[in-house]
Order: sequence, then C-alpha cells, then structure tokens
Amino acid sequence: MGNNVRINEVGLRDGLQIQPKLVPTEGKLELAQALIDAGVRAFEAVSFVSPKALPQMATAAEVWAGLEMKEEIYYSALVLNEKGYDRAVEAGATVVSLALATTEKMNLANTRMSLETATDVCSKIVRRANDDGLEARAYVSTAMGCPYEGDVPVATVVDLTAKMLDAGADRISIADTIGSGNPEQCKRIFAAVVEKWGAEIFGVHLHDTRGFALTNAWVALQAGIREFDSSIGGLGGCPFAPGAKGNVATEDIVFMLEQSGYDTGIDMGGLRRAVGVAERLVGIELGGRITDWWVSQERKRAKEAAEAA
Ligand code: COA
Ligand code: ZN
Repeated sequence: MGNNVRINEVGLRDGLQIQPKLVPTEGKLELAQALIDAGVRAFEAVSFVSPKALPQMATAAEVWAGLEMKEEIYYSALVLNEKGYDRAVEAGATVVSLALATTEKMNLANTRMSLETATDVCSKIVRRANDDGLEARAYVSTAMGCPYEGDVPVATVVDLTAKMLDAGADRISIADTIGSGNPEQCKRIFAAVVEKWGAEIFGVHLHDTRGFALTNAWVALQAGIREFDSSIGGLGGCPFAPGAKGNVATEDIVFMLEQSGYDTGIDMGGLRRAVGVAERLVGIELGGRITDWWVSQERKRAKEAAEAA
C-alpha cells in the first residue's frame, strides 16, 4: 500500500449521463483531452446502454473510437447487459465495468432485472470477459443506501462482492450511488471487504450529495483503498436513482490527496482548464468545493500581477 493513487475519471460517463444537453462526440473528446493534458490516466469513458434509455450515451462507439489510445491510459466502458458487452467488445474495449445494485428495486429501476437476474447477468458478463481476455471491473452499486429500499446491510455488500469475485471479476468498486453513505458506514464496509480480500482489488465510487464524499474517501484511503472514481467539476448523477447528485469532484479529491502527500500524477492547473471545458459543453456552472478558494487565489494573483505591472 503506497502513496500512489489512481483517480478514475467518470465525468464522461456518470457525469454526462444525467445532463439533458447532448454533448457532441467532439466535445466529449475535447474534455477527455483536457483531462489527459492535466495528467488523468484512467477513465470510465462511455456506457454501452440502450440509447433510448440514455440518449447521451448513444454515441458511445464513436466516442470510444476517437479516444487517444495509449498504453499508459486505462479506459473502461460500462455495460449492463450482454448486448452492451457485445457492443463494448466490438468497439475494442479491454476493460468493462458492470453494475450490480444491492436491492431488488434499484436493479429493476436501472435495468428492469430482479436482483437475482442482475446477479446472473453480471456473473455471465464477467465470465465472458475472462474468456475473452478483458478485465472485468464490477460495481457493487447503492452499497451505502438505496433510493427505493433505504439502508443496505454490510453483509449484502460482502455477499454481492463475493458473487462477483467468484464469477471472476478482477476489481470491485464499492459505489455510493446516491451519496447517502456516512464515514462510519464506509469504515464498516471497507473493514469487512478488506479483511476478506485485501485492499488492492477495491476502488470506491462516491457521490457528494450531502457533502460527505471527501470524508468517506479519506476513510476508504485509510482502509488501504487506492482507486477513486471522481468527476470533473462534480458533474454527475443517475437518472434512475432519484436524489443522486454529482460525483465527488476530481479537483477536490486530487487536491485533498496531493495536499496530504499522496501522488495522483494530476496537475491542478490542468484540472481548472478541464472544468472550463466541461462548463462550456454542458452550459452550466460546475465546480467542486475547492472552487471559491480557487477563484480567490486567481483574483489575488491577478491583483499582484496588476500591481507589479
Ligand atoms: N445497447 C443498445 N441497445 C440496447 C441495449 C444496449 N446495451 N440493451 C437493450 N437495448 C435495446 C434493445 O435492442 C431494444 O431495442 P428495440 O426496442 O429497438 O428493440 C430495447 O433496448 C429494449 O431492450 P430490452 O432487452 O427489452 O431491454 P429493456 O427494455 O428491459 O431495458 C436496459 C433494459 C438495461 C437495456 C435499459 O434499461 C438500459 O440500457 N438502461 C440504462 C441504464 C443506465 O444506463 N443506468 C445508468 C448507469 S448505472
Ligand atoms: Zn455514480
């Protein structure tokens, strides 16, 4: 367990999926490039889901084809059924993410599958990925609370994690899909899974609905987790999970980690520029909790420059 942390940028998928304004492929690629320029080296770039259910992802294959493919950049594609998996393989994906929600109602709302069917379908996709030589990254989503069924026992998270690992998943990301988790809960979940399987294979996916995302991230970090999903400018939310707000902002988590002596490889100035690109694409003001401070620093620097001139 070292000081290197993987920031997995999910703005292009989780971030944009709830945005009503359709962002053209070239806009998505411009955002990806701004993030790469800032030093981001891991992305969940698209989801291969029904374009009727999620029009923003209709261009997934086109976006995928336009991404700058480099050995050092880790790209994953989200799939929720076998049709999505087929499309991801066809597009040339080498890593697929899949999402298994913890409750009956959340799976029904998201994919129209019961928990049992979703577990079977996800297991099957994981096995196919193993056979095809793809990495399979499974989300246990709504792990810290469900918008339809409320509290989720830690035992359920452990059970679904075990099922995905038994099927052959390479990595598991514990997802607080609606941002309802609290630090104590986060601590209990990671204590349970890390004790069983070690920290190495886990990541965490947090939403900042109630302002706990950074604290929850810190708790996960202390449990040994070194992979964090985040979204530029705090974009995000799930159209099928009412109440979900944006993901933890990439700029917030990178700054917290870098200030605390961890290495993300990401440059804050580059992220500031990427926030600007994202704002222009979606047409709304974005920004994590760091934004006010960032702006005050810029004003201060501009004033100093004017005085020196
Ligand atoms: N990619 C493209 N099209 C797909 C698809 C996929 N992965 N999965 C299903 N479809 C299409 C089918 O071909 C069918 O098209 P048609 O109406 O033209 O014949 C239609 O969607 C319905 O297919 P069906 O298998 O009956 O699925 P469904 O109606 O039960 O819908 C999902 C289930 C999963 C396909 C759909 O709800 C979905 O993609 N949801 C997106 C959920 C999401 O992205 N959530 C946020 C991220 S977690
Ligand atoms: Zn999410």
